[in-house]
Amino acid sequence: MAAGQFDPYVEDDGLATPEVGGWAIDKYRLLALYAELFSTGMKNKWDRRVYVDLYAGAGHSRIYGTNKFLKGSPLIALTVPDAFDKYIFCEERPDLLAALRSRVERLRPDADAAFVSGDCDSEVEQIVALIPAGAAGRTVLSLCVVDPFDFGVRFETLRRLSAVYIDFVVLLAIGMDANRNYDHYVDGDSPKIDKALGNSQWRDRWRAAGAQRRDFRRFLAEEFSRSMESLGYLKTPLDRMKSVRSVEKNLPLYYIALFSRNKRAFKFWDQVIEYGTDQRSLFN
Ligand SMILES: C[S@@+](CC[C@H](N)C(=O)[O-])C[C@H]1O[C@@H](n2cnc3c(N)ncnc32)[C@H](O)[C@@H]1O
Repeated sequence: MAAGQFDPYVEDDGLATPEVGGWAIDKYRLLALYAELFSTGMKNKWDRRVYVDLYAGAGHSRIYGTNKFLKGSPLIALTVPDAFDKYIFCEERPDLLAALRSRVERLRPDADAAFVSGDCDSEVEQIVALIPAGAAGRTVLSLCVVDPFDFGVRFETLRRLSAVYIDFVVLLAIGMDANRNYDHYVDGDSPKIDKALGNSQWRDRWRAAGAQRRDFRRFLAEEFSRSMESLGYLKTPLDRMKSVRSVEKNLPLYYIALFSRNKRAFKFWDQVIEYGTDQRSLFN
């Protein structure tokens, strides 16, 4: 697949299919481009490439109010030209995981795919155990997609996974959440952001910055990068994150960010960001 040839659409197959906003196409285009560049680019450098999806969904989604059905992140990763050697999908809703399993078996019956039912934070040990251990002469590189509905990611889960060679593509869904719950997060005692960032000192840094409320979203994205740096990941500045906005109201929804310990990964990522700048027309 050359950039721009990604077809996000699928036929309705009657299985469980959650609804998404039209902006999801931007997300899927980015994931498709990066998954392809990663899997092909790393094919000859690592013996095994593993794809991990912590918030996998059902494999298909439908754009609200339309009959347009989209491939979700698991199916995108399954259909890259140089397939990953192993796939690990975690999803907390059993009905969605069952639909995903049927779709994976239909599309790639030969794939080495593991399905983890439950909360990715509680099940992280099971997920780590499913990643093949690397050894001399058998190197293993993983790509983990982290796509929660809101800023519900848990830094401790990523810390645990970072014990292996693993890159993360994280959807920092802080746009609406950070705005709607600003007072609750900053002045209240909500632990949500502490858990996402892995610390509670962010509040002091936010106050010390004396910034405006409208800067909170950018601040959280930078804080998340700072937390990842503490695990040995390269700094991901804001201009290397892709900002996705809602189609209907043009409101900021989330940033999509790559976290890698390897500069080479950012060469691929920079191409993705370049192609990811408003090419919606390609898919209409
Ligand atoms: C935004 S959707 C992601 C969909 C998927 N990545 C895709 O591209 O279609 C988030 C999914 O994560 C699931 N989920 C929410 N919290 C979870 C958790 N703690 N562990 C695992 N799955 C979770 C939800 O049921 C939902 O299907």
